[in-house]
Amino acid sequence: MTLKHPLDPLESQEIEKAVELLKLDKRFNEGSTFISAILDEPDKSIVSDYKENDPIPRKVKLLGSDKNPDGGFCAEIDIVKNQVISYERLKANGQAPYNMEEMMTAIGLTIQNLEYQKALKKRGITDFELLHIDPWPAGGFVHETIKPGHRALKCISFLKESINDNGYAKPIQGVISWVDVTLGKVVHVEDHGVVPIPKEHARYDIESQPKIREGLKTIDITQPNGPSFEVDGYHISWQGWKFRISIHDVHGLVLHELSLNDRPILYRAALSDMVVPYGDSDPMHSWKHVFDGSEYGLGRFINSLTLGCDCVGEIQYFDINQINWDGEIIKTENAICLHEEDYGIQWKHSDDRGGASEVRRSRRLVISSIFTVGNYDYGLFWYLYLDGTIQMEVKLTGIMGISAITEETYNPSQAPKVAKNLAAPLHQHLFCFRLDWELDGKENQLFETEIELLPVSEDNPNGTQFSSVAKHLTKESDAKREISAETSRVWKVVNPDKKNSLGVPVAYKLLPGATPKLLSNPDSIVSKRAAFAKHNLWATPYNSEELGAAGSYTVMSNGESGLEDYTKNDRDISKCDLVTWHTFGLSHVPRPEDWPVMPVEYCGFHLIPVGFFDKNPTLDIPPSCKTGNQSDKK
Ligand code: CO
Repeated sequence: MTLKHPLDPLESQEIEKAVELLKLDKRFNEGSTFISAILDEPDKSIVSDYKENDPIPRKVKLLGSDKNPDGGFCAEIDIVKNQVISYERLKANGQAPYNMEEMMTAIGLTIQNLEYQKALKKRGITDFELLHIDPWPAGGFVHETIKPGHRALKCISFLKESINDNGYAKPIQGVISWVDVTLGKVVHVEDHGVVPIPKEHARYDIESQPKIREGLKTIDITQPNGPSFEVDGYHISWQGWKFRISIHDVHGLVLHELSLNDRPILYRAALSDMVVPYGDSDPMHSWKHVFDGSEYGLGRFINSLTLGCDCVGEIQYFDINQINWDGEIIKTENAICLHEEDYGIQWKHSDDRGGASEVRRSRRLVISSIFTVGNYDYGLFWYLYLDGTIQMEVKLTGIMGISAITEETYNPSQAPKVAKNLAAPLHQHLFCFRLDWELDGKENQLFETEIELLPVSEDNPNGTQFSSVAKHLTKESDAKREISAETSRVWKVVNPDKKNSLGVPVAYKLLPGATPKLLSNPDSIVSKRAAFAKHNLWATPYNSEELGAAGSYTVMSNGESGLEDYTKNDRDISKCDLVTWHTFGLSHVPRPEDWPVMPVEYCGFHLIPVGFFDKNPTLDIPPSCKTGNQSDKK
């Protein structure tokens, strides 16, 4: 494919060229491993002014690590001018994400460690081939022997019955190995005492099921005339919507330059970061609060999707290129899925007085990718609707964190039983989405609106009246907000310079779902590192350096960077190039039904036009009623 736009995802030759140029640079250390190759998105002004056939600026950010006791390196390479523009060492308390080589190192070192082996032998385990070891980020709770600038992982272990078995059925309870990856050494092994390894397997493959369900007839979704969208490279248009897509190593699936009827709405919309704090006292889990975005690099765990399984219908797929730790290309085919879905009725009215009885069907454009980070799988689904609604839906599935228990150690209030001798700890999944607005222009305002009951008065004698109140959020401190379902609280992004035909400024509202926020104690290290999850809403004026809700780099961080830091000067947001940050998710109380693999659980938010149009924008949808339906054949 040939490049068409400054925001097009990196091509394999571009990554290869960046690696080649960096390896020639004298600052590059032999023995470095690569973590990420990220397109350095050009300045907004360059992107907005870009015209077809203009020269396309291309810069690649290469992240990597080596044995230096700091945060690794970040090199910026101009692959048009063939030069390394900068080579920066990252800070010890905000390091680049882990890579696969470090994970494998931590696993290998753990298996070879004599103390670890001793703990395993105490549990009757002698065949190390069948071990399943999960390395977890060690940031926040760092072992005293691990020096600043060292990269550390903590490993917990499981035992398989065979190579293809699901190891999570058999936790090796109470054994935790602390690995200093920089030093290449296991620095400590915890053994909290033997708990018998559960006997039952937990296989979810079809061959392992005792009986296959019957009676499910085929559903075919066909579009004989093809889909209604058009694709040009990574640019998509559908029913007035226009946008670009890409995959970012940390942010996952990104929408760029989203507009409707040539009116801009969002410059960039994506996950910024996410955290999964565990609330159990079990030493296997009590310290866990992984940033799946910035510590593991969510985007790097993208799935290759399969037609008919992951996606059905008239599907258009997009491939993407990433880098492995060796500096070679990993190409993922079918990484992004694009298709249309029927979505029930858009609107309907039956007039029983002789007027029109009409109904129109709704449909949505689905842009999705699925990421597997260790035991969990996350689907990021953007939906665009015919009425101007934008929706983000996160689909959570996969396998829960798990402990082996006995009747004596069972602690149902913190870790409910999900199978015989297995309990899954309470935990949260909190996602922070960064929405970079350009609603009908460059400068926007932010309002909070809610409904207020009016006091009984002369004008409200029966106490029946309520009214909508709007508050202009003019400073960053005003915009640290929580949801409030009982007052119908929403946040409205407004363009005061653009009015609809009714004379009212155009707006979109952010409609949150029923969501918790971070439960950890405010003074805890979890609250410091994941401060973005302390509020459901944040707002900042645009700054190209502020993309990471917990800071740009978070491995071994101590909470110095991120939204709390960005907003410390309480900048003015009364009218600006506005960025909103929305934290949402769920507090997961595990159920037996979530075992051994979780039925999808959903969370997300909607962005809904408010006076962006002058009236229902879907009156022009043609009716789709036709004869020949099943019911007509009766
Ligand atoms: Co969960």
